[in-house]
Amino acid sequence: MPSKATVVDHPLIQHKLSMMRKVETPPAVFRQLLKEIAMLLAHEALRDLPMTTKRITTPMEEMDAPVIEGRKPVIISILRAGNGLLDGMLDLVPMAKVGHIGMYRDHDTLEAIEYYLKVPKDIEERPVIVVDPMLATANSSIASITRLKEVGAKNMKFVCLLAAPEGVEALSKAHPDVPIITAAVDSHLNELGYIVPGLGDAGDRIYGTV
Ligand code: PRP
Ligand code: URA
Repeated sequence: MPSKATVVDHPLIQHKLSMMRKVETPPAVFRQLLKEIAMLLAHEALRDLPMTTKRITTPMEEMDAPVIEGRKPVIISILRAGNGLLDGMLDLVPMAKVGHIGMYRDHDTLEAIEYYLKVPKDIEERPVIVVDPMLATANSSIASITRLKEVGAKNMKFVCLLAAPEGVEALSKAHPDVPIITAAVDSHLNELGYIVPGLGDAGDRIYGTV
């Protein structure tokens, strides 16, 4: 069956992801690698931004130069691990607007619990990139995207680092209008809802809270 996610299999991304997976990689290195991969994933996620041309003058002559048209994108970080991807994307697109949605997984039920929401007022007029490193059961991403639609977001993409096949299936069923972009789709979820082989708990590895 064809994957319902776009897997960005660039050698740089795959090499950096393998380093992140290693249990001995410390938080400072983990964060730096995530930031670097985020820039490469942003490249893919933003490749269809609308373009126009603007008349400019080079040292040689005038030309109609390609520039991005329309409202600047919004990057929405699903807290807290989403901030690890957000940082790299902002390095590449510093003019992007930013929103945050706080979601944590209840450890027993794996249900997503919302605890924070702040997004730009004009979110409905902008392309929206929702970021979270991990797509496991998809409870967090489905709840986040449902909530973002309630506050007006229309044109959304979901970008993650690692996905489980179960999560890709569930998210694309719940929100078929939202493309999924990831660096890898792993084997499966374990009985505790962790991605296998995965990289463990992304938030803990970013912030050293293991
Ligand atoms: C992690 C991860 C996702 C979620 C993915 O967050 O960052 O948000 O789990 O799992 P799911 O697809 O099964 O919902 P967590 O709840 O551990 O919170 P944190 O980011 O605050 O560490
Ligand atoms: N959240 C994580 O941080 N890691 C997983 O493997 C699953 C959910």
